[in-house]
Amino acid sequence: MRIGVLTGGGDAAGLNPAIRAVVIAADRAGSTVIGLHDGWAGLLEGGQSRTLHASDLEGWLRAGGTLLGSSRTNPLALEGGIDEVLAQATAHQLDALVAIGGDDTLSVAAALCEHGFPVVGLPKTVDFDLAVTEYCIGFDSAVAIVAEACDRLATTGASHHRTMVLEVMGRDTGWLAIMGALAGGADLAVLPEFPMDLGAIVDHALARRAGGHGSSLILIAEGATIEGLETLSDEGSTDAFGHVALARRAVGERLADALAGATGLDTRATALGHVQRGGPPAAADRIWPTRLGVAAVESLMAGTFGVCLGVVSAQPRAVPLGDVVAFQKRVPAELYATFRAVS
Ligand code: F6P
Repeated sequence: MRIGVLTGGGDAAGLNPAIRAVVIAADRAGSTVIGLHDGWAGLLEGGQSRTLHASDLEGWLRAGGTLLGSSRTNPLALEGGIDEVLAQATAHQLDALVAIGGDDTLSVAAALCEHGFPVVGLPKTVDFDLAVTEYCIGFDSAVAIVAEACDRLATTGASHHRTMVLEVMGRDTGWLAIMGALAGGADLAVLPEFPMDLGAIVDHALARRAGGHGSSLILIAEGATIEGLETLSDEGSTDAFGHVALARRAVGERLADALAGATGLDTRATALGHVQRGGPPAAADRIWPTRLGVAAVESLMAGTFGVCLGVVSAQPRAVPLGDVVAFQKRVPAELYATFRAVS
């Protein structure tokens, strides 16, 4: 069998361990893996690719980002895009494809399956917003980075008796913010799922100071909206999948300015940005991508396509691709309440 593999969307720690597992498992099954460069761009005219050999994967388990490159190229948004992808797959003599990505990449994978081409998906997103699966490649590593940033901001914040605001990624969900806040010991988390007004955040900062705390650490998701706070415009920043660049709103910085004005407290903002996606994968983002990559190849060998290899009840599980992208998984009230119970 000739298997194509690609990584699409924003990069994340754990992509290379997944590719590595696919290549080794396929090689042992007597198959050849073609690495397609830069996401779906690798399967459009002029796209680049290379054969991946099991003997050439030294260091891939430890390497951050994606050694195949990625892009937000969307064949569904291009006239005849899916036909072109199918034509390129035929030109590469591909029998099947492993597509590693988030809702955007996997929605293209689902469309390809509907056109009769065999695809298996692997779930990747630091936003953790895919349905069904309990694990997404890159999320654990990103949470660890947010937690470390909290540790660092807490000590400098305490030294200067400051209110520290940390803005994290997550698009329209607050998974990175809530898990980072739990792991990093923030005293407030502002999430898209549970909107707050500016007055409540001001009250929180003042109450904390009145309660004898010298400093405060507030985590805010890039997609959060705060009633009474104007953010910057994200106009003109839409990508091929229709997402706006939420970081442009600078909600963390805007909040810090408003807090400083309303409380008189010394306040600083940090936008963690792409640091959250870079660097070597955490242990979970080596172990699970390896298990899921092997399971993906087993699925292809068994002739099971149109599925995404996710984690359900702590086990690798093939779930229909359509189910994984059917809706956006959002932070539940119970998890938010747990955070509120300890902050
Ligand atoms: O979807 C992953 C993500 O990191 C989001 O959290 C963030 O909003 C976006 O990608 C940033 O995209 P880019 O790397 O294109 O700036």
